[in-house]
Amino acid sequence: MSDSPPLVGPTRRWVSALLSLGFISTISGFAGTILAYLWPAAGGGGSEFLVGSHGPLRAEDIDSDGSVVGRSRLGKILVVRRPDGLVGMQATCTHLGCTVAWNATSQLVECPCHGARYNLHGEVLAGPAREALGLVSLTIEEDGIRVRPPLEG
Ligand code: FES
Repeated sequence: MSDSPPLVGPTRRWVSALLSLGFISTISGFAGTILAYLWPAAGGGGSEFLVGSHGPLRAEDIDSDGSVVGRSRLGKILVVRRPDGLVGMQATCTHLGCTVAWNATSQLVECPCHGARYNLHGEVLAGPAREALGLVSLTIEEDGIRVRPPLEG
């Protein structure tokens, strides 16, 4: 028989509380992992609303020049309004990472840092950038402008 005293009184309650805390912590971690896995799918298969400085961007937030830049998990996104709908593309210049902008006069996407120019397909028309801007798919919904990566063809 052991010489150690039996767990009684405050010691027993303390051990019981620690075991309960460990159990709750384990269950919470497991539930959080499941929720984190399911959350993007609940938003529409990896899509999300573009966000501006005041919250989700809506079609009426597009500037008078016909463009707006918002943020998403896909990075900064440039939205350009065209007669046949919205065009969306990465807004981070592929040269050194400045934020590009729509120029309504030239009808081109231009980088203010070193002068790269892109068309609305994201293709480079003038350097120093060499790689195209990635396109994204946009849809206007009641709650904002939803962005998702384009389906690969
Ligand atoms: S960062 Fe855009 S051209 Fe250099």
